[in-house]
Amino acid sequence: MLEGTAAHLWMCWRAFYLLAAGVALACEARLPCPPSCRCNAAVLEVNCSGGQLTSVPNGVPQDAKLVNLTHNTIKTLVNHQFYNLSQLFHLDLSDNLLAFIEVEAFLGLRSLLTLRLARNQLKILSVGVFAGLKDLRLLDISSNKILVLLDFTFKDLASLELFTADDNDFVFISRQAFAGLTGLKRLALDVQNLTAVPTDALAELSVLRSLHLHQLGLTTLPDYSFHHLDLLKELVISRFPQMESLSGNSLFGLNLTSLTITHSNLSAVPYTPLRPLVYLVYLDLSFNPISYIQGSLLGDLLRLQEFHLVGGSLLRIESAAFKGLVHLKVLNVSRNLLTTLEEGSVQSVDVLEVLGLDGNPLACDCRLLWLVRRRPYVDFYGCPPTCSTSVQLQGWNFLDFAADDLSNLLTCRRPRVLNRKPEDVRADQGHTVVFDCSAEGDPQPSVSWLNPQLRHISPVGRIRALTNGSLEVRYAQPLDSGTYICVASNAAGNDSLPVSLHIRALPSKTHFQTWLVSPSAPPGGSGNHNLPFDLKTLLIAATIGFFSFFSSVSLCFILMFFWSKGKGQIKHTATIAYVPRSAVSNSNTGATSFKETGRFTMKLI
Ligand SMILES: *[C@@H]1O[C@H](CO)[C@@H](O)[C@H](O)[C@H]1NC(C)=O
Ligand SMILES: *[C@@H]1O[C@H](CO)[C@@H](O)[C@H](O)[C@H]1NC(C)=O
Ligand SMILES: *[C@@H]1O[C@H](CO)[C@@H](O)[C@H](O)[C@H]1NC(C)=O
Ligand SMILES: *[C@@H]1O[C@H](CO)[C@@H](O)[C@H](O)[C@H]1NC(C)=O
Ligand SMILES: *[C@@H]1O[C@H](CO)[C@@H](O)[C@H](O)[C@H]1NC(C)=O
Ligand SMILES: *[C@@H]1O[C@H](CO)[C@@H](O)[C@H](O)[C@H]1NC(C)=O
Ligand SMILES: *[C@@H]1O[C@H](CO)[C@@H](O)[C@H](O)[C@H]1NC(C)=O
Repeated sequence: MLEGTAAHLWMCWRAFYLLAAGVALACEARLPCPPSCRCNAAVLEVNCSGGQLTSVPNGVPQDAKLVNLTHNTIKTLVNHQFYNLSQLFHLDLSDNLLAFIEVEAFLGLRSLLTLRLARNQLKILSVGVFAGLKDLRLLDISSNKILVLLDFTFKDLASLELFTADDNDFVFISRQAFAGLTGLKRLALDVQNLTAVPTDALAELSVLRSLHLHQLGLTTLPDYSFHHLDLLKELVISRFPQMESLSGNSLFGLNLTSLTITHSNLSAVPYTPLRPLVYLVYLDLSFNPISYIQGSLLGDLLRLQEFHLVGGSLLRIESAAFKGLVHLKVLNVSRNLLTTLEEGSVQSVDVLEVLGLDGNPLACDCRLLWLVRRRPYVDFYGCPPTCSTSVQLQGWNFLDFAADDLSNLLTCRRPRVLNRKPEDVRADQGHTVVFDCSAEGDPQPSVSWLNPQLRHISPVGRIRALTNGSLEVRYAQPLDSGTYICVASNAAGNDSLPVSLHIRALPSKTHFQTWLVSPSAPPGGSGNHNLPFDLKTLLIAATIGFFSFFSSVSLCFILMFFWSKGKGQIKHTATIAYVPRSAVSNSNTGATSFKETGRFTMKLI
């Protein structure tokens, strides 16, 4: 009996459910749906996409949650256009011909969360257009032709979190354009016709966490471009085609975890602006013509985990380039001009998990042994590096090598200095001396020079190491004498060759030269090497001095000759005192010396 009642009850409930469902179905069938639209009553969606509509259709059900009006030819929105759709969450008007939106067009959309107006013909957004959208979270106005953003345009959008305004023609963004966007977390802005970063306008966005700026026509990113953006975590700067550098304080005030500067014209890593970003985890400098990553200059980025520089002009990553970056686990330097990647460039190869090194003209030799050995632990994302410069390994990729072959295949040859006959050069003071040094080895060794004190000689200065490997000593001085060492080194070791240099002091060691340098210095003083003139100037001055001295003396003689003739008395000697004007020393004629008295005696005819 009890069972029967239960069964009966169950039947009743079933019938009731069927009835209810039937009513529901009937309701759905009766749901008003505007012509050229498809309505889905279950999810309360109205899809009018591609319906050849020239204006917003009437009769959109009041309880609709989503209205899709994309791919139509709607040109204008009048005010209160959507007034009764108080339950609408999502409105999409992308891909229309919208050129004008009246003030308060969206009034009444109390629940609206997303509004998409991308790919239309909008040139201006009047203040008040967005009135009433107090809950809006996402606004997309990308790919329009908007020229200016006026003060308070977005003042009603206090809940807005994501705002995309890429690909417009902004020529002016007013200082308070973003006033009222107190909840904005992410902004993408295309600023191709602006000449400056809209720093003041951005300063209104106090809780912004992500900023994407595209296409700014700047050559240098100025100091303090992003101050007041205290909470910003992600900054993306891309397609600034003329930007060649970042000012030292351009990123001042930021505490970023992710920084991307791509498709610009940077020729060096912006070491100085990066230094304060100690919380940075992700750094991407791809598609910039950067040639070198210098050693030990990124060490402040303690927390960096990813470094990307794809498609640049990298020729070399110096050893210790990533020194101090103990968390670096992703390194992507694909599609550059690297011939190798030294083990010493990264702080710890054990931490490295992902490496992009493909698309580089790699020389497979002993310098890459470490990497081939670590290949089981490193993810190349399906693009393992390939050898390209050594003939027998051309085209091999890193996964082709068998473990046993490695030490035979990936080899280096120690450098050997060529023409190694000991050189012993003697020269006079003031001459230029060049020592050549060339070396062979695999990889091609680099040649450097050590001075007699065993210090490295730099490529600039009077004594310098030339790029072709030679050592040049200009205006050689006696103190330059000594043994210089040419060192050729590569990954396999080094070879060296000592050469010696003897510089003879100028023979004209007289008080005269000393007098020129400092009138009070005693003759024969040791002031030669710090002569304040260079030798050429000295020679010219001396020659001019000699000629003028000689001509005045001759004139005196002639005058005296006539005077003595006139007197009738012949004097046979004359003593001439003179003030010395210059020293003469000429390597062709030998040295002319003067007596210390400053006078000399001449026989007259
Ligand atoms: C709306 O309709 C278009 C064209 O018929 C279709 O491609 C699109 O997927 C539809 N969207 C939804 C949310 O149903
Ligand atoms: C904005 O810049 C683009 C490309 O530089 C140019 O084609 C366009 O005419 C500019 N627009 C305005 C309004 O200056
Ligand atoms: C990029 O910089 C180089 C010089 O560093 C310059 O010659 C070139 O014109 C620049 N490119 C652009 C697009 O400004
Ligand atoms: C910088 O950001 C990190 C995390 O992203 C945070 O822990 C740290 O407190 C911030 N520092 C300052 C000075 O705001
Ligand atoms: C390196 O970056 C390029 C371009 O973004 C990407 O295609 C490639 O997969 C990356 N490689 C690795 C190993 O991350
Ligand atoms: C290197 O250059 C210097 C000056 O340009 C020249 O005197 C020297 O002979 C060159 N050395 C070699 C090995 O070519
Ligand atoms: C040359 O190699 C030796 C070991 O082979 C090393 O001790 C020395 O420091 C190297 N010299 C230079 C200048 O690299």
